[in-house]
Parts: sequence; C-alpha cells; structure tokens
Amino acid sequence: RLPGTDLDYFDTRAAVEAIQPGAYAKLPYTSRILAEQLVRRCEPAALTDSLRQLIERKRDLDFPWYPARVVCHDILGQTALVDLAGLRDAIAEKGGDPSQVNPVVPTQLIVDHSLAVEHPGFEADAFEKNRAVEERRNEDRFHFINWTKTAFDNVDVIPPGNGIMHQINLEKMSPVVQIKDGVAFPDTCVGTDSHTPMVDALGVISVGVGGLEAENVMLGNPSMMRLPDIVGVELTGKLRPGITGTDMVLAITEFLRRERVVGAYLEFYGEGADSLSVGDRATIANMTPEYGATAGMFFIDGQTIDYLKLTGRDDDQVALVESYARETGLWADHLKDAEYERVLSFDLSSVGRNLAGPSNPHALLPVSELHQRGVAGEWEEKEGEMPDGAVIIAAITSCTNTSNPRNMIAAGLIARNANRLGLTRKPWVKSSLAPGSKTVKMYLEAANLLPELQSLGFDVVAFACTTCNGMSGALDPTIQQEVIDRDLYATAVLSGNRNFDGRIHPYAKQAFLASPPLVVAYAIAGTIRFDIEKDVLGHDADGKPILLKDIWPDDAEIDAIVKASVKPDQFRATYIPMFEKKGGEERAASPLYDWRPQSTYIRRPPYWEGTMAEARALKGMRPLALLPDNITTDHLSPSNAILLDSAAGAYLHKMGLPEEDFNSYATHRGDHLTAQRATLANPKLFNEMVRDEKGEVIQGSLARVEPDGEVMRMWEAIETYMQRKQPLIIIAGADYGQGSSRDWAAKGVALAGVEAIVAEGFERIHRTNLIGMGVMPLQFQEGTTRHTLGLDGTEVYDVEGEPAPRATLTLVIHRADGEVERVPVICRLDTAEEVSVYAAGGILQKFAKEFM
Ligand code: F3S
Repeated sequence: RLPGTDLDYFDTRAAVEAIQPGAYAKLPYTSRILAEQLVRRCEPAALTDSLRQLIERKRDLDFPWYPARVVCHDILGQTALVDLAGLRDAIAEKGGDPSQVNPVVPTQLIVDHSLAVEHPGFEADAFEKNRAVEERRNEDRFHFINWTKTAFDNVDVIPPGNGIMHQINLEKMSPVVQIKDGVAFPDTCVGTDSHTPMVDALGVISVGVGGLEAENVMLGNPSMMRLPDIVGVELTGKLRPGITGTDMVLAITEFLRRERVVGAYLEFYGEGADSLSVGDRATIANMTPEYGATAGMFFIDGQTIDYLKLTGRDDDQVALVESYARETGLWADHLKDAEYERVLSFDLSSVGRNLAGPSNPHALLPVSELHQRGVAGEWEEKEGEMPDGAVIIAAITSCTNTSNPRNMIAAGLIARNANRLGLTRKPWVKSSLAPGSKTVKMYLEAANLLPELQSLGFDVVAFACTTCNGMSGALDPTIQQEVIDRDLYATAVLSGNRNFDGRIHPYAKQAFLASPPLVVAYAIAGTIRFDIEKDVLGHDADGKPILLKDIWPDDAEIDAIVKASVKPDQFRATYIPMFEKKGGEERAASPLYDWRPQSTYIRRPPYWEGTMAEARALKGMRPLALLPDNITTDHLSPSNAILLDSAAGAYLHKMGLPEEDFNSYATHRGDHLTAQRATLANPKLFNEMVRDEKGEVIQGSLARVEPDGEVMRMWEAIETYMQRKQPLIIIAGADYGQGSSRDWAAKGVALAGVEAIVAEGFERIHRTNLIGMGVMPLQFQEGTTRHTLGLDGTEVYDVEGEPAPRATLTLVIHRADGEVERVPVICRLDTAEEVSVYAAGGILQKFAKEFM
C-alpha cells in the first residue's frame, strides 16, 4: 500500500533485490520503470528471467515493454486507423468477425498536422480563415477520424484547433502516475511521432514509434525491444544571461550527435538539470530524435512537482506523484548510485546564442556567423528591394518551443521592445504564431504581450504544427514570383526542430532553427545577410541606431512575467477530458467503414492482397536508387514538396480535386493511390544512378531504369518496374531513414516492389517500419560501402541465407559484365519478434493471420 493513500503499488525494489541484493540502487531511472511494468504485467514464470536480464543489462535478448497509452497525430494516427479499418474489411471478407479488431490500449489521436498557414499572422481573422480552409480541405479525413471514435473501442480524438499532441500530452494528458483498479503505476506511452519523448521531461518513459509498431501496441501486444544503452548525461553549470532554452537545446543536439548516442536512452541529471524548469527540460527532451537517441529522461523532483501544480493538475494527483516517486526510488535524490553504460558531461554555461541550419538540426551555427555562411554567391543590396537571403518565412511554431513559457514570454518582450522603438517587420516576411496549446494565448494576453506580437505580424494563426511540419501555406504570389525570377536564396527562420531539405517550404532554399525571440528579430531584419549581433535593425525617433541588444529581453523581466502571468486556471480552462463520452447511442452503426470511392484522402488499403501478402523472395532485384548518407523520411516520402508539378498532383487532377485543395502530401496518406506517388518524390534527392555527362549526380526525383538505362521521373520508373513485376533493392549510405516516424517512408518503397534495403546504418524507427512492411533491412559490414564495392546501378542482386536476429547473410552481386561477387551483410532483424513479423510478410499480414 502506498503511504498516505488507499492505493496499492507493485514493490519493484523488493522484486529486484530478491534476485540480486543491492541491485536496485544501481539501476538507472529507465530500468526501474521497465522493471515495474515487468513485475505488474509478466507471467510469474517469465518474470525472474526478464528482471535478471534487466539487472544484468543483457542486450542480446528480446525484452517486452507494455506502454500504458498510445498517442497519435492525425497523419500517422489516421493511417494506422485506416489500416485497422482495412483489416476489418479483410477479416469480414474471409468470414471472420470484424468487430474483434479494436485497440485495447487507450489511444489518443490529436488532430494537429492538418492546418496550413494560408493566412499569415498580419492578416485579420487569420485563425478563423485558416481553420475554415482546414475543415474544407480535410472533410474526407475528418469524416473518417470522427467515425473511428465511435467505431473502435479505446480511441479518442482531440479535434483540430486545440493544439499540438506533445504539448497537450505534457501540459494536460500525462498523469505521470496512473491509477487503474486501485493500483498506482508509472505512466508510459508510445506515440506515432518521433518527438513523443517530450514528456520524458516529466519522468514518463515515452518514445516515438512508427505507425505500424503503434498498431501492434494498440492491439495489446508488447513492444519487443533489445535493451538499449542507457547513457547518463550530466549537465553542469547554468545558462548565461540572455541565452534561451532553444539556444541550449541546439547546442546539446550538436554535442550529442557528435557523441553518437543513436538509439540510446539518455538520463539527464546534475546541478544543471536541477536548475532547469520542466519547460526547458521539455525543450531538450523534445529534440531527442534530432540527437538520435530514443528517450531523453529527466527524474521526478521539485521542478516536476512545481510544473504539475502550474499546469493545473489536481492536488491529489500531484501528491500521488510525489509519494509514488519517493516510495519507489523514482525521486531524483534516490538515483545518486545509478550506473550507466556511458556518462557524458555538458556545461550549460558554454552555450551561446545559436541557430541550426541550413538543412540539419544538428548543424549548429553561432548567430554571429550566419551572415557569412549558408548563402550562395555574391550579393548587392538595393534599397527597398527584397535582398538575397531574404527571410520569406518567420514562424514562431512547434511544440519544441511554444511549450516553454520562458521562450514565449521572451518573444512577446522582444516584440514589445521593438514596437516601442518603432521597428517593423519587412514586408516580404510571412510571419506567424502557432502555439501548441490555447494556454499560451491566454498567458500572452494576461501579460499584455499578444498585442505586441500582433503589431509585428505575429498574431495567432493556429493551434497546430503549421510551419514545423511544412504546412507553411502559399506565399504571396508577387513575392513568390520575385523569388523565382531573381533566383533568390530565400530563407525560412522558425522555432521548430527540423529543417531538412524541402521540408519547410518549397521556395525556401534553406531553413534555420532559432529561438522565438530570434525569429521576431529576423522578421525585422528581413534577411540573413545581416550580422544580427552587430548590424543596425533600424533607428529610433532620435535617429539613434537600434541593435539587437537594445531590444533583447531581460532575464529577470522574463522570469517575473512568467511568474505573474502563467497560471493553473489557464491550463484547466483548456483541458479536454478524454474517454468520457462513449454512450451506447454513440456507437457506429457498422464496424465497417463506408469508403468513399472518389476520395483521394481515405481509401481501403491493399496490404492483404496479391504479392503484398507474401514473404519476399529476395532474388533478381534491380536497384531503384543508390543513395548518399543521411537520407531522411522527407526524401523517402515528402510531406510538403510541391504537389502541383508531381505524379501525385497529376493523379489529383485526374480525380477532379480542385488545385486550391491539393493540400500536402502528408494529408493524402490515407489513400495509397495518392501517397505511393510521393515515393522518393523530393526534388532535393540525389540518386547517384543519375549523372550528367561530367559524371556529377543530378539533383531531382529521378531514376535510371535498368537494363535499358533510360532516365525518367522516379514515379514513372516505379510504374515501369511495377508493370515488369521487377523486384527492387535500394543501396544507401549511413544513417538511412532519419527524421520522422512516418510509415509511408516504408509503405511507399514496399508498394513500389522494393524487397530489401542495404545501408551503412539505419535509424531506429524507420528500420522497424521497413520490417513492418516486409522489407528486409541489411547493413554493410564495417568498411564496406557502395563505393568500395564500385556499385553503379547496373547490377542485379540476390540475398542468400536464413533471416535470424543479426545473422550474417550474403548479398550476391551479379555485375553487368557477368562477374559475381558475394558480400557478407548483417540482417537487421534484431529480435525474434522482428523475424516473425518479416516472415509473415509484415505486421499487417501478421495481424490478419492472428484474427482469422
Ligand atoms: Fe511538434 Fe508538430 Fe513539429 S508535433 S515537432 S510541432 S510537426
């Protein structure tokens, strides 16, 4: 019984100590939570072995994890539910009972990815106008999403216009400690978005998974994993005056990428961590995928309790969190003897004012250097003319930063200071403010800072992801034409966490990540060809030059305003209760969805038909592409490359969709006929099979069809190979599949006929998505690459050997001159569970077999 409560809890410490006395004190925070769920969920027969595995850190065995919740956004969550609706159809057709397909783990879908900033923050009623466009464009999708609420058990929806999933999870949804049937236990979750670790800041294990893995968890299966490296990150020192949480996270991201923490669970501690508010901690935890880790945990401590109180959690709940953490060793003071695989140290006082870019979140750039880097060629400024390096988009956006009250108050204060001195936004800058929850607007109003932001063009355009997920909306046509005609190196500056090629806006040749106050400063400067630390932003009424330091907010004032203006009632007022509405009368009439045949958004999926339902032969494969390092899921299945001039655009035309409603690629991912045409459709792609006469790789969504050698657009090549029933392979460099958890980065290549991908390394979530789609991930052994093998795309490939976890298989290369070479490669099916998913042809096929 938990002291001071009438709740029971599972005594993990006793269970661990019974196996190895003294072991609990050495367990990291993560292991303690993983141990608790074993004690609570495992069969007694398996418990001792699994606990021993955890204590001894055996990383070569499958380990079961049972997350308590699944959170999704409307892109991946919707496609997951489209899959489950399709599965119901497939079962019904074979005479089974479709209504048995239901999530058994509570699943919360937040509609946050669908709104485009068609109306910027300097236009009257931008919020209402953007919402109206969103509703019109997404009618098919929202119809389906609303149906899922009533058709499936354990699915709930937060409607559009309320905020961003991770921010809502942090501010409102996570209880930190859950109660079920009179038992208290730690909240844990998986989410179909790589930034799900944001609530790790509250001490909640929460990780991003692919849509397919989320479907697996929703249906009640454990997520099987290999125990990760758990790395301690000691934060020392304190942030210097004037340095924001964004500056800090960009510097930490660069540091941790360099330290190669890919796949690890990190635990932040030390005097630096102690000094950070949960707002700052959440900014760090949010960017976990950018530094390549799986989780970025903070321990429960006084800061956690303060944040739970600030965000309006009930007193009883706050008391429960504290007593549970103290009793079970999850309280920060109880982790002094925790042992880690590796310990890193980062000094917060070393952080300066930063940006990251132009196309990678870990490419750190001191602000003082931006004007000399990241812009191509010579430039000559002409008075009143849009300059090269023009900031065409300045967006205060994303859960990363709008969840942090210090960052948002700082943005309001720099706007106030600028307004007082008469500074204005440059006319070519499309500015916007899109907080991740309605609470932010309330506290900016309470601080009287919203009008200050509004007068610089940063009125609230949405409570949604917007520019962060590339939904920047159209540019003013005149400005767009000038960017095209003068071939300007146009730039986006945003307070987001990603800036991969082509993600933010098709006409932004580069994108820089920056703190919210810096975004405001660049909207005033209007160009990145500007030393924002030293150059003159404007002149005051007396003609005195104004520098950044003259308007930069003062830390003490930020803290005082946060204290005075951010209140629990604002969080309570915007809370949406979940799972409280399912009366029998709200049940859908049929367990089967009435698909709309003309929809280009939602379509019955094909994964249980034809060759998709079989394991692959891995014989006679031709390369679809030879790809360089750092291929992202935005290259593999872009969200926002231009739809108009694309294979998907041509298809939407054919289906009669008006051009103004083409929407983003991402919103069409519930319709495989549209979504598959986005495969490798990023115009910034470099397929090394396509070269000019000098041998240079040509940039573009292009492929060379073999054996004919004809170069064509990627989708035409895929269609050609589909007609020939030609099995395909992709050969790639290091860190393949970085970026978001979108399952379409795997679905697209699987539908194209790609049976295997051989790379120098895979990002975790994308690798699991490939397996979920029945595509074999293979890894070159150290020292072997497509270059050392001299591959040029004319080869035909087989794979030999029996798939087993981390087995060595043979890649057989049949060269065009008849030579045959055999190369050992590592089978990246890492667990027995992954082997069984692959053998079934993918996770969806495995489900179908289980239900029939
Ligand atoms: Fe967050 Fe949405 Fe960006 S979930 S990371 S704001 S795309």
